Amino acid sequence: MHIDLTGRTALVTGSTSGIGYAIATSFAGAGARVVVNGRDERRTREAAAGIREETGSTEIHPVAADVATSEGAEKIIAAEPDVDILINNTGIFSATPVFEIPDSEWRRFFEVNVLSGVRLARHYIPRMVGRGWGRVIFISSDSAVLPPTEMVHYGMTKTAQLAVSRGMAQSVAGSGVTVNSVLPGPTRTPGVEQFITDLIGGDMPFEEAEQRFIAQERPTSLLGRLILPEEIANLVLYVSSEQASATSGAALRVDGGVIPTLIP
Ligand SMILES: NC(=O)c1ccc[n+]([C@@H]2O[C@H](COP(=O)([O-])OP(=O)(O)OC[C@H]3O[C@@H](n4cnc5c(N)ncnc54)[C@H](OP(=O)(O)O)[C@@H]3O)[C@@H](O)[C@H]2O)c1
Repeated sequence: MHIDLTGRTALVTGSTSGIGYAIATSFAGAGARVVVNGRDERRTREAAAGIREETGSTEIHPVAADVATSEGAEKIIAAEPDVDILINNTGIFSATPVFEIPDSEWRRFFEVNVLSGVRLARHYIPRMVGRGWGRVIFISSDSAVLPPTEMVHYGMTKTAQLAVSRGMAQSVAGSGVTVNSVLPGPTRTPGVEQFITDLIGGDMPFEEAEQRFIAQERPTSLLGRLILPEEIANLVLYVSSEQASATSGAALRVDGGVIPTLIP
């Protein structure tokens, strides 16, 4: 299968590092014009430069904006009024016992992980419908289906994304626009490396901590290791392609088999 995104503009939120950076890079490699986003001007410019260097593409455009705020969403929309592919990837996580999470943190997680994507989708999807083509993906998590005891507020936001994406897909039925969510499992990003080091202990080689993390905390993994960001990007690239036209309203797993059910 040859995936060609020439002529398409893709916005990937939270693409200065981790999974978002890998998705933006894979889109650039497939010929898309890519809008890279993070909160910090310099980090966002550097990420765009890194992708240009890796792929040879000249069509990589940094837009620094905090997508967790309406002002940030407006800034992106002003810079890029129309996109063909929207990847709502920005997300935060942190471990806190559920009875110690204050209202402010419940709200912050909802604003960053859910409302950020809702605002952008609300602007872009009707315009995609007008043009008869579009792809929207919410980057959710295995935590949507298996709420982690150490971060229930995070799990809540990831489950909410499934409802939002399915509902939006239903709202644009038959339009040529698809809306889906992708559920990554534990993926080797700098934040997850730190999370595992803090949880398991920093006094051993990372590969040993990774093995212990999988055995203790994600024992249902069929992969037996962390997923690489590029492995997530491969599925996102396919779902964003012309070829994925019959996939909409779906919750698609790239979780290394962590979710131990037949259907998510
Ligand atoms: N890694 C995993 O194991 C895993 C598993 C399942 C699901 N996921 C999901 O995958 C997505 C990406 O995770 P990741 O691990 O790749 O994260 P990450 O490495 O921490 O990267 C997060 C990205 O989001 C940006 N960001 C954070 N807050 C932002 C905001 N308010 N506005 C704009 N950008 C913002 C960061 O950029 P700046 O810091 O430069 O602003 C960074 O580029 C998240 O939705 C996460 O829930 C991850």
